[in-house]
Parts: sequence; structure tokens; C-alpha cells
Amino acid sequence: MASSLVIVGTQWGDEGKGKVVDILAGFADVVVRFQGGSNAGHTLVVDGQDLVTHLVPSGVMHPGKRCAIGPAVVVDPELLLAEIAGLQKRGLLAEPGSLVISPRAHAVMPYHKELDAAREATRGPMRIGTTLRGIGPCLEDKAARSGIRVCDLLDSEALAERIGARLPEVNAVLAHHGREPLSESGLLLGLRDQAERLAPFVGDVCALVRSALDRGRGVLFEGAQGAMLDVDHGTYPFVTAASTVAGAALSGLGIGPGRDVGVLGIVKAYSTRVGEGPMPTELTDERGLHMQQTGGEFGATTGRPRRCGWIDLTALRYATAACGCTSICVTKLDVLRGLRPLRLAVGYTLDGQPHDGIPADAGVYGRVDPVYEELDGWDEDLSEVREKDALPQGARRYLDFVENYLDLPVDIISVGPMRSETIVIRNPLRRG
Ligand code: IMP
Repeated sequence: MASSLVIVGTQWGDEGKGKVVDILAGFADVVVRFQGGSNAGHTLVVDGQDLVTHLVPSGVMHPGKRCAIGPAVVVDPELLLAEIAGLQKRGLLAEPGSLVISPRAHAVMPYHKELDAAREATRGPMRIGTTLRGIGPCLEDKAARSGIRVCDLLDSEALAERIGARLPEVNAVLAHHGREPLSESGLLLGLRDQAERLAPFVGDVCALVRSALDRGRGVLFEGAQGAMLDVDHGTYPFVTAASTVAGAALSGLGIGPGRDVGVLGIVKAYSTRVGEGPMPTELTDERGLHMQQTGGEFGATTGRPRRCGWIDLTALRYATAACGCTSICVTKLDVLRGLRPLRLAVGYTLDGQPHDGIPADAGVYGRVDPVYEELDGWDEDLSEVREKDALPQGARRYLDFVENYLDLPVDIISVGPMRSETIVIRNPLRRG
């Protein structure tokens, strides 16, 4: 029985992972973010109130659970502190140890955000449409061994040394892009203040997670973005700069592959994408607009409208394989109400010929045409339904089709944004 679970997005992010983590956190002891940064935005709706978190794990609504931020997450200290303050104002994160941040996590510096904006402005048609949260430049510095980590923030001398070594080159690049240089003293002043406020939260996240696993306690590994945005497996270069697949949970936290950890793939009932890059099933007509409006498809981080389209089972088969999903959760099924008939992409053609799998080249992927299967759909409201058998026939057929195509059991169905608007067929944390 897997008592621990990786929760991972299987599309281009925004699948509704936050709500699922929030629900399953009730059955876990530790909820840990394993990658990404404040580019993520997880919307939780609890007691009718919206709560958007970017860095703090979505288990935060459960007092007594430990939330952790792993070494592979990139942490924007300013934003994280604002998030913590907002949550504490609501009475959350009140107990000591309720949030632990790895000292190994890299910190997003103000210049990473400047560089993100400067690069995007000069990319022209190769613009990625990033969230401008500095994620790519921060991870570039990490790979170049010139990053600033949380442990550096806590050591005033080391911080001054590392910033002093990094800033001249950063300012030269900013000047190249016609941007103002950053002042070293101003930067250090701000960082020292943030470091003081972050210090009480810093601790050994990997040891915490390993110990929980060793004791058979439930650990939820909270993913960010989706598998199609993975730097190795996604639609490169229109991807985020990190590994978003489920395996990143283990590598990111220093856990060996022999552990019994399930992988729940979150599958939105239709596709969305924010930013540039191929999306074969995109709809630019009133049906896409219906999904966008009914599904509230506007970025939780940037407010940008999301591109919407039919579910793409070919991309999903690829993504669920890349993540090693053991079951799936279908979210936002309610949004498809009244869209009749429904279409599901079950293959692609390229230049009129059948095409297998996902082209590695984003330019080629941008040229494929989906092959669709059509299903009838339904007109009924799903928000009150709490059992799969009580769903209208059209909705059950849709779910069965997805389940059979992906050859993965649907464990959970989400039929609305509230916690209560959920059908749990099997609890994936208790799978036998
Ligand atoms: P970055 O992660 O800000 O560098 O953005 C790279 C790409 O990933 C852009 O297309 C973003 O819109 C997309 N992206 C990053 N984070 C998220 C997310 O949490 N949800 C959806 N898209 C995201």
C-alpha cells in the first residue's frame, strides 16, 4: 500500500493540482514542494474564500501538517515572506515547524527577474511567454555554480562575497539590454533583512521527508507546472527551465528510486496552455472561449488568459508515461457541460500522414493536426454529484474513454472548485 504520493501535472500546468493536494493533505503528514518556484500559482477555495499560494505547499490549510520546500525549488525570498505573512494573518502556519525551507534551495534574486524580462523582450518570435518570475535565470545561475542559496542568505559575509562576484557580470548583461544596473549595497541591505525573517523556517527538508517515509508516514510530493513543460520531456524550448515530471520529486529530495511511492497524474478534462508553444488541440472559436470563461482560465500568477482546447489524449499518454503515473485525477469535468459534441484527440497527422507520438521538434509539433474521436457530452450540472455512478451517462462515457485510452484508473474526479465538489472513487494514498 503506497502511503506516499507524487502529485504531478500531466499537461501544461494549471490542471488543478492545488485543490487535490489540499484534499489529500488530510491523509498525509508532510506536504513537500519539490521543484519550480513562484511561477506556480495554486488556487485553493476553502470556506468560499480563494487562497492563492505560489511557494508555500498546498497542505497549508491543514493545521498540524508539516509543509516543506525542497532543495530543488527556487525561492523568491521577498515573495515567500509576503506569502507567509498573509497566511499567518489568517491563523495559518502558526505552529513552530509547520513550514520548513531547505538551506540548499536557490534564491531568486531581483536581478533574475530583471534578466527574465530583458531576455523575453529580445526573443522576438522565440518568446517563451515566461511568468517573468526569474525562474529561468535563477536556474541558469544554479547550473553555472554562481547561484545564491538560502544558506548563503543566512551568512552575511558569504552573501556579500557571492553577490560581489556575481553582480558585475549581471549589470553588464542588464546594460546590454539597456536596463539600469543594480546597486550592490541596496541589494545586500534588502537580502539581509529578508534572511533574518527567513532564518526560523530553515531546516533539513530531505531528512524530514526521509524520516517520514522510513516511519511509513504519508508524504505528498507536490508538483508544479506540468509534464509538457518539462525541460527534457516537454515542448522545448517552450518549457520551464526545470524538470517537472514525477521523478524530479525523488531526485529533488535526495530519495532513492526503490521507495514505494504512487504517482497521481492530474488531468484537466480539457487542455490549457499559458505562454507560447505548440498546442495541437487549441480552439480559437467560441468553444475555446466557453472553456476559458466557464473554467476561469486566467493565470493565478500572471492573470494572463489561458489558451484552451480539447483534451489531447496523445499528449497525455506521453506525459503519464514520462511520469510513471499509477492513477489519475480528472479535474474541471463540470466545465464541459453543454459543449456538445465533445472531442478528444486520439492521434496526430503530419502533412496528411499518421504521425506516432510527440515530435521532439516544437516547430514540427506545431504543424501536426489532431485526429479526433467524438462523444455526445451532457447538459446536466455536475456540481452536486458525489458518486461516479450518479454522473450523467455522457460524463461517465467521457471518463471511461479517458481511462481506457490512458490505461490508468481514475481515482478522483473534480466537479467544481470547492473541496466538497469532488468524487473520490479510491483514495490514491491508500491504494492496496
Ligand atoms: P517560466 O517557468 O516562468 O520560465 O515560464 C516558462 C513557461 O512555462 C511559460 O510558457 C509559462 O507560461 C509556463 N509556466 C510556468 N509556470 C507555470 C504554471 O505554474 N502554470 C502554467 N504555466 C506555467
